[in-house]
Amino acid sequence: MPRKAIGILTSGGDCPGLNAAIRGVGRAARDYFGMDVIGFQDGFRGLVENRTVRLEGAALSNILTMGGTILGTSRDKPHRMPIGSSGFMDMTEVAVDNYHRHHLDALVCLGGGGTQKNALRLKNRGLNIITLPKTIDNDVAETDITFGFDTAMTIAAEAIDRLHSTADSHHRVMLVEIMGHNAGWLTLGAGLSGGADIILIPEIPYRLDAVVEALVQRSRKGKRFSIVAIAEGAMSFEEAEQLAAASAAADDKGKSKTAETEGMTGYGREVSLKLALQLQEATGLEARLTALGHLQRGGTPTPTDRLLATRLGTAAADLVQEGIFGVMVAVKGNHCEAVPLEKAAGKLRTVPLDHPWVRSARMVGTSFGDWPPAGS
Ligand code: F6P
Repeated sequence: MPRKAIGILTSGGDCPGLNAAIRGVGRAARDYFGMDVIGFQDGFRGLVENRTVRLEGAALSNILTMGGTILGTSRDKPHRMPIGSSGFMDMTEVAVDNYHRHHLDALVCLGGGGTQKNALRLKNRGLNIITLPKTIDNDVAETDITFGFDTAMTIAAEAIDRLHSTADSHHRVMLVEIMGHNAGWLTLGAGLSGGADIILIPEIPYRLDAVVEALVQRSRKGKRFSIVAIAEGAMSFEEAEQLAAASAAADDKGKSKTAETEGMTGYGREVSLKLALQLQEATGLEARLTALGHLQRGGTPTPTDRLLATRLGTAAADLVQEGIFGVMVAVKGNHCEAVPLEKAAGKLRTVPLDHPWVRSARMVGTSFGDWPPAGS
């Protein structure tokens, strides 16, 4: 029997744990099952441009604890690849040809929501695809958790810990802006574990007066500082209403919601800075903003992420060996499960309003800047 051959690529924003996952897939496939393993550089772009690295010998050594991805990454999609200054081209055919050129039995794609969609397109072109869910945002559908999330949450919680002493010394309101795109998992997890007094996430639009009231209440109780954890995708109640109306109108006209609502609300720094100034003015308390940005994606993964990435990676190699394709390896409770790509791709996993973390936060006195509580 000829040796099996697999390709691996990492796509989308990087995150801690990618190298642990590459090592997990690669070592299990190569050393345990005796397959040939190659890596494509810079995500789907490397597949289209046929830029490969042989993951032989020592290539998979000493990378378990390393941040980033040894393969490089990009957000490029095969069906809409930026080509020179001439715009975008559909390079799907070329990607498919390159897969066959290397006589691959499978392509393992490590990525977040966008990657799942791109991988599904290649699966529909007849390639044997397996994906792993990675992202600090934890927003991939059909899996309980993604790797990268635990490390980013740890970094953000540690930042909140550090902000406490300086907030206390100066009696300030400290806002800390946390990544997560349009999902609040990272802010909620870091805010809850770091003891933020107010947590603002996209799923629970905030009312300025409720946030002000929460700060004033703390002052009345003799608390001389406050920490506000704000997600980069957080929005006010008014902005959320405008967005909902524009989405509904786009639906009615049969237009793309994304195109019609793009840029309607502020995002990231714009929103958190505006809020810091509004809070300062309304409460008379001094406010400061810290935006954690890409710090949350850098550096060595936590042991939890290394373990998760290794489990998911080795599970992917198992699937190749068994000949099961067109799936994402998901975490369900304590085990890994193969989920059809169609179920995972194109869906955003946001924080449900009745999630136990939301309830716990409310029970320890954290405000979400909503009144009455969203979902009640
Ligand atoms: O998806 C991961 C993520 O870090 C998001 O939290 C954030 O919105 C985005 O990527 C930032 O992307 P970039 O690295 O392109 O600035």
